[in-house]
Amino acid sequence: MQISMRAVVLEGPGQEAVVKEIPIPTPQSGQVLIKVDSAPINPSDIAFLHGAYSSGKQFPCVPGFEGSGTVIANGGGIMGWRLVGKRVAFYSQSQFGTYGEYSVADALGCLELENDITLQEACCSFVNPLTVISMLEVAKEHKTQAVVHTAAASQLGRMMVRHFQANGVRVINIIRRDAQVEMLKKEGADIILNSSDSDFLEKLKNVIQTLRATVFFDALGGELTGKILEVMPSHSTCYVYGGLSLKPVGNVSIMDLIFKDKKVVGFWLTQYLKTKNIISQALLLNQLKGLLKTNLKTIVAKTVDVSEFKEGLEFYKKNMSEGKVLIRFDQKQQQQQQQQQQQLQDKQQ
Ligand SMILES: NC(=O)c1ccc[n+]([C@@H]2O[C@H](COP(=O)([O-])OP(=O)(O)OC[C@H]3O[C@@H](n4cnc5c(N)ncnc54)[C@H](OP(=O)(O)O)[C@@H]3O)[C@@H](O)[C@H]2O)c1
Repeated sequence: MQISMRAVVLEGPGQEAVVKEIPIPTPQSGQVLIKVDSAPINPSDIAFLHGAYSSGKQFPCVPGFEGSGTVIANGGGIMGWRLVGKRVAFYSQSQFGTYGEYSVADALGCLELENDITLQEACCSFVNPLTVISMLEVAKEHKTQAVVHTAAASQLGRMMVRHFQANGVRVINIIRRDAQVEMLKKEGADIILNSSDSDFLEKLKNVIQTLRATVFFDALGGELTGKILEVMPSHSTCYVYGGLSLKPVGNVSIMDLIFKDKKVVGFWLTQYLKTKNIISQALLLNQLKGLLKTNLKTIVAKTVDVSEFKEGLEFYKKNMSEGKVLIRFDQKQQQQQQQQQQQLQDKQQ
């Protein structure tokens, strides 16, 4: 029986993550043990590796917050028992995250998958898709007709375009490179502004006024946050939900805050979900399930075996808009099997 597994291990925040053999974890009551198939690298994983993400994990630990796989054991409890043998997408904040051959997750953090979705397609089911569903709820609460969005060519940004527009909310997409325009147009985006253009703020002000956008979802922080808020109407709210600029929020006008009732607040999915009762959470997951192959699908740029974690991470950092990099655990074996099959076929011909 296998007792150890390959995993990415982080000894402490900011240290270099290394791939090594460690014992297979034991699930506790309410948890399940999952044989992992695929796990994506998200900006929150990069932040975690650098010690800039609040997760409560103890060190040393296996990073990775979301993934997909098959439940192979139950630590105790009816929810886990029901899942044994099932293919699931899952979210894990346990010490044994998703970058290991086996991971541990709360049974309640697992989403049982339908047969029509592959484990690779399903491994990005939680972080971005649930955030987009939640953001639409937030936008609807504000009764806004349109929202402003930065870093709009991200996977989350593309989901936002599809999902918000399908639900009658326009998206004013802000990107930083012209190459990102086509990426967004393919998703159906019709308002795309490049923050590098000299007349960017003037164009933005016009479109915000025309569409009466009062909600701004900001993935960047830095100087741009305040500049954008300044061209928004009174009573607008900026939800800072990412820190991709690696800078503090800047340029926020005191006049805007005091006299125009504009607000800058944080948005964190984990916190947002805590405001929901079990029934609302179940409804949210049900809605999510139906949209994973359409509005909330993720583009994958590359898959790597866990032994190539470092290379995968570097590729992702340099090519974020291309799509997700997935860490896989049987990639090497599959490649060997494919090569053997090819050699056999070649011999037979
Ligand atoms: N708060 C929450 O609960 C929550 C939940 C989910 C996601 N998030 C956040 O959502 C954001 C998007 O996540 P994702 O997985 O969709 O990202 P992603 O697909 O990896 O894409 C990241 C995008 O950000 C752009 N970008 C990176 N640095 C930038 C900068 N300094 N200025 C402008 N653009 C920059 C990249 O463009 P280039 O190709 O030009 O680099 C790329 O288009 C992240 O900030 C993530 O942390 C937050």
